[in-house]
Amino acid sequence: MPKWLDNAVFYEIYPQSFLDTNADGIGDFRGIIRKLDYIRDLGFNALWINPCFTSPFGDAGYDVADYYTVAPRYGTNEDLKELFIQAHNRGMHVLLDLVPGHTSVEHPWFKESMKAEKNAFTDRYIWTDSVSEPPEGMGCLRGISPRDGAVALNFFSIQPALNYGFNVRTRPWQQSPEEEGPRATLEAMMDVMRFWLGMGCDGFRVDMAMSLVKNDPDSQATIALWQKVRAFLDEEFPEAAMVSEWGEPEKSLRGGFHMDFLLHFGPSHYNDLFRCQEPFFSDRGLGDASAFVEKYLESREKAGKNGLICIPSGNHDMARLAKFVEGDQKKLAFTFLLTMPGAPFVYYGDEIGMRFVEGLTSVEGGYERTGARSPMQWDGSVNAGFSAAPRNKLYMPQDPASDRPTVEEQLSRSDSLLHHVQKMIALRQAHPALQNRAAIAFISNGAPGQALAYERGCGEERLLVVLNPCREAAAFSYGGTLGEAVYVFGGAALQKDGTVTVPPVSAGIYRIK
Ligand code: NOJ
Repeated sequence: MPKWLDNAVFYEIYPQSFLDTNADGIGDFRGIIRKLDYIRDLGFNALWINPCFTSPFGDAGYDVADYYTVAPRYGTNEDLKELFIQAHNRGMHVLLDLVPGHTSVEHPWFKESMKAEKNAFTDRYIWTDSVSEPPEGMGCLRGISPRDGAVALNFFSIQPALNYGFNVRTRPWQQSPEEEGPRATLEAMMDVMRFWLGMGCDGFRVDMAMSLVKNDPDSQATIALWQKVRAFLDEEFPEAAMVSEWGEPEKSLRGGFHMDFLLHFGPSHYNDLFRCQEPFFSDRGLGDASAFVEKYLESREKAGKNGLICIPSGNHDMARLAKFVEGDQKKLAFTFLLTMPGAPFVYYGDEIGMRFVEGLTSVEGGYERTGARSPMQWDGSVNAGFSAAPRNKLYMPQDPASDRPTVEEQLSRSDSLLHHVQKMIALRQAHPALQNRAAIAFISNGAPGQALAYERGCGEERLLVVLNPCREAAAFSYGGTLGEAVYVFGGAALQKDGTVTVPPVSAGIYRIK
């Protein structure tokens, strides 16, 4: 288990939209390097960069055409190596995005695989035996190749599924994960990992990690596959960190991932907190965090003590936090995100409350996700300091509002969201009880009108975090004794006769006596 994960706090960068240094309208590695001090000064000590490899960008780079070469629009492999070095010089770690479930239709492996003659890539993808037999229950491409067969898809129609085999097999063309083709696919993917880890990357966020072995009840064979990857990493790169896009920690962590995300899909009730009509983080008091709490505790129990369940502020696939969470509620939401166990992940721009840009035409397969991917707003200059390109050449339009938040404005104001995020990360780093592996016990579960309160503990240090987003005061009974406040926002909680009363729209962190 990489030690650096004990207090890692991640910042996710969608590289297209971060900072453009060569005026082509698209972000680049030089831009990320230029902003490393900004990210570090906020308190982040780790990055996740969305796919930055050669791609036709039909799905923002999740359609890889060459796993070994970065997309020229971001720079060169040397530039990425420089980014690793610069990050390491600042005590930061960098995760790349590994897309093992599918490639672009333009990947040379796929071109070889489409050929009628048998070759080394014939079994690299999932093909049926005849163009008139589509794979059951899966999307497919048919009629595109000299080879007679239909090829299964993993996501969009431009993303044919790599072949890791089928756990339950009902057709002759379905191979076992142990057959040569699926084994070679996994070897090829481990070679890709070896290449980037050897260059200085610190691990991977793994796209659709649950999708690899098909017809796989309870993900048994997919878990077994990831355990092989774990064994390889333990042997060759024990410090490399792995976080899965899976959304079911009870499975992914058993597969050997160090971390799994809670996501806007899956059973976690993540959306109840920030992304629904009546989120918990609203002053109306109609939101309900209790199903989240119940599922969270169940997952923790099943996943075992070592794995980290990571709660992101958002990501490139979901609406921005600011779409549903308003005003000071954003500060409460970040107090929650940065005081929970697991490694926190903050999506670029969420630290200033960047808005979801409504009404945009889809860019690079973004569709309903597009508005969460708009270029970063650095300052009040042209294009908000993102790029010197003409406005109509930007990767996509920016938030057109005249009061759009910027880093510059928020740095100048001590009560800004940015400073709040910075303060919360500093508190987390100052208190082992708030860090990634410290224990948690819920005291109040955020049912409608109720506060969310949880104890965090590590060794001697024990803290109580109390959050009441509601415009009415809330109360809960508590057997412990509140001590000195480590942090208070919106008024301190009061304890009397075993009842803690929490002021409206407030947050506090207290020592437990
Ligand atoms: C999940 C990624 O986060 C998303 O952006 C992508 O479109 C799909 N996987 C397919 O790779």
